[in-house]
Amino acid sequence: VVCCVLGQVGNFSISQLCLPARTITAVNGQLPGPTIEAREGDTVVVHLVNESPYHMTIHWHGIFQRGTPWSDGPAMVTQCPVKPGANYTYRFNVTDQEGTLWWHAHISFLRATVYGALVIRPRGGAEAYPFTKPHGEETVILGEWWNANVYDLQQLVFLTGDTTKAPHADAYTINGKPGDFYNCSNANQTYRFQVQSNETYLLRIINAALNTPMFFKVANHSFTVIGTDAAYTTPYETDVVVVFPGQTVDALMVAGATVGRYYMAVSPYDSAIPQGPPFSMTTGTAIVEYVGSAEETPQLPPRPEYTDTDTAFRFLSNLTALVLPGKPTVPLSVDTRMFVTVGLGVSDCQPKQLLCNTSGTTRPVFSSSMNNASFVLPEAVSMLQAHYANASAGVYTRDFLDQPPVTFDYTADASDNATLQYTTKSTKVKTLRYNETVEMVLQNTRLIAKESHPMHLHGFNFFVLAQGFGNYDQATATPQFNLVNPQERNTVAVPTGGWAVIRFVANNPGMWFMHCHFDAHLDLGLAMVFEVQDGPTAETSVPPPPLDLPQC
Ligand code: C2O
Repeated sequence: VVCCVLGQVGNFSISQLCLPARTITAVNGQLPGPTIEAREGDTVVVHLVNESPYHMTIHWHGIFQRGTPWSDGPAMVTQCPVKPGANYTYRFNVTDQEGTLWWHAHISFLRATVYGALVIRPRGGAEAYPFTKPHGEETVILGEWWNANVYDLQQLVFLTGDTTKAPHADAYTINGKPGDFYNCSNANQTYRFQVQSNETYLLRIINAALNTPMFFKVANHSFTVIGTDAAYTTPYETDVVVVFPGQTVDALMVAGATVGRYYMAVSPYDSAIPQGPPFSMTTGTAIVEYVGSAEETPQLPPRPEYTDTDTAFRFLSNLTALVLPGKPTVPLSVDTRMFVTVGLGVSDCQPKQLLCNTSGTTRPVFSSSMNNASFVLPEAVSMLQAHYANASAGVYTRDFLDQPPVTFDYTADASDNATLQYTTKSTKVKTLRYNETVEMVLQNTRLIAKESHPMHLHGFNFFVLAQGFGNYDQATATPQFNLVNPQERNTVAVPTGGWAVIRFVANNPGMWFMHCHFDAHLDLGLAMVFEVQDGPTAETSVPPPPLDLPQC
């Protein structure tokens, strides 16, 4: 089965927040871009026509890309960018997962406006859901709106190594719109969702924001979560959904309130920096409208404080997998154990960075890292091309550490200890044998700031065995491992000042990016790549690149 979508990444003009219309890069002139709807087992073929002035790639976030590593999309990891005026065809199978995923640009900060939903229904369609078929379904994409040109913003942040140049977005959005609660917004900048009294709706909630974890609520309504990251969960009742950038949540909502109008609204969760600008609670609203309701002013739901780590952790750590026959279960034995710090720091600037030698001396710049390595993308050739050609020399090295180079108190504020902060800029990979089982402890550090990082792995889902606060301690953590029905994710929010333990099986040969899904952190090096070696057969080896693979 071929499910076809034409992705034309061009520029169009849009006016938000009552400012004059400006030009943004978007797919098919839509914000969000078109939803791709597929059934499990389908082959998806997308022709990307790049009519924007920027280099472009698209990533199919959460798709395994088994046998199609050339279609994964991160710029310089699996492909060179598609140049302005050029084309590339992405081709992949949608197998072994059902639910909600999404797609987005994977270059610069362009995913701020180049994104859309990717919905995977069972082979038997909605009739085959492992829960009662809802009356309706709705995609709810949470995002950020930036008044600035995001491409220029990324250059500024990268070249200066200064994330304060892009501290926060100008508004939050639901399905591309800021909502009518903002003092100068209006009805056509508000997304409306119509419901019939007492019917049940499946909300497919995606966080496409560059840098903001979000709480999501609907006044007078609650949810039953049935899936995350296109993996079914044990039904979980809650009145608030927590979704980090990169994650998705599928939740059932019954329209069981009095006929009327109700706000759905997001609010930021940010454990590090108070997101206190005036917009934070006045944008990111939409309206749930019962059929037959009057044009009354909707009620706002009470929203958690941005510091409400308890609510975020309760939601994220209580989810468990719905164990279905034939689904992969958590591997009980482990081949490789890794302990990896994730966090912020400073490093010597790269030659291109503007702060170098401002006063004749080399100044350190803000950076982020995994095990003290600040990841840098290669420039001449993509890592997958180098891997396939057996020509890694000068492109990447295989010395990503399984342990941090220094052990310290990860939860202490060690900002004044330069030896702990300095990171090396490099392109390091961790090489895995085909089918090897990996356990990773992801430990947040508190250098510069204590915060929760959403760590995303390309090419795989992983099981989240346990998570907690403080320094990871194997003796006390191991008994807490869920080895029965751990949640399956492609993006885990490592708790602020804490840790998470994940496991996955390296059954997918190729080069797979792992990184923080805050774009500001990704660009400053909070990333690494797994190089998964070929298996014994042609089917378990990286295939030759497609003929239209862009060259750098
Ligand atoms: Cu959704 Cu590498 O990203």
